Amino acid sequence: MKRLEHKSALITGAARGIGRAFAEGYVREGATVAIADVNVERAEATAREIGSAAYAIRMDVTDQASIEAAIAAVEARRGGLDILINNAALFDLAPIVEITRESFDRLFAINVAGTLFTLQAAAKSMIARGRGGKIINMASQAGRRGEALVGVYCATKAAVISLTQSAGLDLIKHRINVNAIAPGVVDGEHWDGVDALFARYEHRPLGEKKRLVGEAVPYGRMGTAEDLVGMAVFLASAESDYVVAQTYNVDGGNWMS
Ligand SMILES: NC(=O)c1ccc[n+]([C@@H]2O[C@H](COP(=O)([O-])OP(=O)(O)OC[C@H]3O[C@@H](n4cnc5c(N)ncnc54)[C@H](O)[C@@H]3O)[C@@H](O)[C@H]2O)c1
Repeated sequence: MKRLEHKSALITGAARGIGRAFAEGYVREGATVAIADVNVERAEATAREIGSAAYAIRMDVTDQASIEAAIAAVEARRGGLDILINNAALFDLAPIVEITRESFDRLFAINVAGTLFTLQAAAKSMIARGRGGKIINMASQAGRRGEALVGVYCATKAAVISLTQSAGLDLIKHRINVNAIAPGVVDGEHWDGVDALFARYEHRPLGEKKRLVGEAVPYGRMGTAEDLVGMAVFLASAESDYVVAQTYNVDGGNWMS
């Protein structure tokens, strides 16, 4: 028995990386998935590769009209929305004295406001339909504690954990479960960019930071996007109906909480 049979999901930032792996995992479990991304060409290519249960939607989570259009597109195509993953996010790195307002505003617009207002639009749609739903926010180990060079991104992910708690408590009366996943270090294009930023600010050769963070994980290696899929399926399935407002670490043992 597939665990997400007949479910309609929307995953932001699913054109690549972790969101793409979630989309593949959900399709394997019987769901149809909207691959929603600001990079619509890549979203279309990803949807084609996944198959007919996936379809692409152009969506910019910083734009309210785009958020509402994406939810409306899922309603029109699938009759409603059962599962949202707020996965789109941006990373940046700078010492505290070099943080710019531009970087701060951009990261908070995507990672925090994008998460909140996409969650809000999805919740309105789910409440109107009256069948409950599942909302999963992507937090991070970065939201559990600060890091010298990662001040803004860490703050955005701490905000995601807090919003998950508030929204989780507010929406459970509608049988909408809001929970979050806090990954550790996950290999992929995202971490290639992170590695390049560390190389610049910590004067390291490319690839060294990646090697070091991987060696420091108690499990013994960096995570893969596939390592997170089990938790994402669990939090979208009926098995997690009594799980409310939680953030789960899936990080190879990097963080205890
Ligand atoms: N990779 C890691 O090590 C790691 C660790 C902890 C948490 N996370 C979190 O997991 C999630 C996925 O990470 P990833 O590594 O796959 O990232 P990624 O950078 O590979 O993918 C992010 C996707 O979001 C899309 N996107 C960016 N801005 C957008 C916008 N305004 N509207 C819609 N889409 C937009 C991008 O086009 C891209 O496809 C993020 O929330 C990230 O913060 C990642």
